[in-house]
Amino acid sequence: MCGIVGYVGDREAWPIILNGLLHLEYRGYDSAGIAVLDSCGRLEIRKTMGRVQSLITDDLSQTPSGTIALGHTRWATHGPPSYDNAHPHTGCNQRVTVVHNGIIENFLELKKKLEADGHVFSSQTDSEVIPHLIEVGLSNGDTFEEACRSMERQIKGSQAIVALSKQIDPVLCGLRLGHAGGLVIADYEGQTILGSALPATIPLFDKDLSSSHEVVFLESEEMVTITRSRTSYHNLDGRIQVKEPVSISASDLSSDKGNYSHFMLKEIMEQPDVVGASFKERVDFHNKTVNLSDFHVSDSDIFYLNRVILVGCGTSLHAAQVGRSWIEEFAGIPASAESASEFRYNNLTMDHKTLVISIGQSGETADTIAAMEHAVSKGARLITICNSEGSQATRIAESTLNMLAGLEIGVASTKTFLASLCTVQLLAIYIGQIRGALDADQVGTLIDNLATLPRILGDILKDTGHYEDLANKICGYNDLLFLGRGTQVPIASEGALKLKEISYIHAEGYPAGEMKHGPIALIDAHMATLALAPKSYLYDKMVGNILEVKAREGMEVAILTEGDVDLGSRVDVASYIPLVPESLLPMVLTIPLQLLAYYVALAKGCDVDKPRNLAKSVTVE
Ligand code: M6R
Repeated sequence: MCGIVGYVGDREAWPIILNGLLHLEYRGYDSAGIAVLDSCGRLEIRKTMGRVQSLITDDLSQTPSGTIALGHTRWATHGPPSYDNAHPHTGCNQRVTVVHNGIIENFLELKKKLEADGHVFSSQTDSEVIPHLIEVGLSNGDTFEEACRSMERQIKGSQAIVALSKQIDPVLCGLRLGHAGGLVIADYEGQTILGSALPATIPLFDKDLSSSHEVVFLESEEMVTITRSRTSYHNLDGRIQVKEPVSISASDLSSDKGNYSHFMLKEIMEQPDVVGASFKERVDFHNKTVNLSDFHVSDSDIFYLNRVILVGCGTSLHAAQVGRSWIEEFAGIPASAESASEFRYNNLTMDHKTLVISIGQSGETADTIAAMEHAVSKGARLITICNSEGSQATRIAESTLNMLAGLEIGVASTKTFLASLCTVQLLAIYIGQIRGALDADQVGTLIDNLATLPRILGDILKDTGHYEDLANKICGYNDLLFLGRGTQVPIASEGALKLKEISYIHAEGYPAGEMKHGPIALIDAHMATLALAPKSYLYDKMVGNILEVKAREGMEVAILTEGDVDLGSRVDVASYIPLVPESLLPMVLTIPLQLLAYYVALAKGCDVDKPRNLAKSVTVE
């Protein structure tokens, strides 16, 4: 969270930073700011509350001029969104200016000490201690680099920091401390850009966005110094680090809305293709096998596995919960799904026969990275299902199964959820094939089912008007329970998460069978429920649960299988999906729930792609 862009080159820096920030705004949009260093060594800082757009002016002659600059788009942690709390921050004498992503755990103690020494603070942020600490180093005679290192030795916590110095050599210094907050650096045609995520580099490559480009990712406890003539990498002791550039494809860099009004809708519509992409080169539809060449656990080690733990946060946790069931059913291995933010505190037993699978769109979620590091420290095998090539998760894991969903911009995850589900199902089938938990016929049936998925999803997505109508029926409710059973419980939770995050309606996913153990007390004419009741082995049980709610006058929406007019006539509103095999139900049921959340948010006039208080990539714990 928080977007950072820095630039050193020969072009006017203001539009470059602005463009980079616009591409990073999904990481936070509470405030924004840009500092430009002009050719006379003067620093000009412009800030705004709210969105980056507010920094845009038609009259470029009114914008600061200079070819070195630093920008930030903020997701507030310490100190509410305000002009004063917007980055970049400076110290007392403006010798340096700083942008920051992360949390300084000991900032109160540091601030108290600095204030006692006469430093004056102008914000409530933890970040502001950084420029003051660097200034202390500079006034003790340290070089800029040394002052940055000395600052780093005093602060605690996980973060990315970029400082701009008014002295000319070096001019930008970026540090990555701990696992939160990545930094990526690109050198291109004599210019250098650094940013908190790949889209920050787009302004550098804008003349040639269709080709692959080389970038360098900063690892934890590394720093980069950038001058006009060179970019160099060191560890925090000052030893030079030789960094291998990574080639990044155009699809990892950018995305546009096309003809859609929101990224979320575009990303929902892309799902038939995304699902198809996740099968590519992994499923042999002719010979009916799954081949995962990117899963680097040997067959003999697969035989040894006696436990699988899937971890993730938010939507990725829901994918892990569905995946857990498939690992048990198809791979025949005891499995559990854990919230990554709780993983370290759950005293789970792990060793080299445990396979931990992290799931994440960004590969940068601090809680997930911490869980992965914990798994490694316990000696577990570790792989990741991830959508961001080169991200921290992919660098920690032994193997990465790329979701291949393309860049996802909408803060509410949609296509990466479907891609996670497909990938984890393929993994479960693959392990089941090797361990003999599935025979060839069973594998063949599962693969035949998967082959139909893109078409089924495409058919549902042809008619979205129905979901607009449904949205109008429920957008007046303040509370909604999503009910399901089996693998549909996490799908109910995902439907509830989508609704609450973009439309601010209180919604919860619940196992339908648990209703009678308490939550049914909530049911009255003001409470709506949405039941997932497609034809499945759990159908009869769901019917019972639906009727229990109806008997208490709750407003009931149900997602049913086409043709189920009998149950359809007993609920208030019915929506239908085609008859599909059990193994596809989680994917197919997700689509109506995504569309419903989208149209409810639209009906309520909410900002669908940038919901309040959220950020796409959550790099603080
Ligand atoms: O990048 P990750 O998948 O690790 O992100 C995890 C969650 O922060 C994320 O899924 C979040 O819940 C989304 N806003 C859900 O739409």
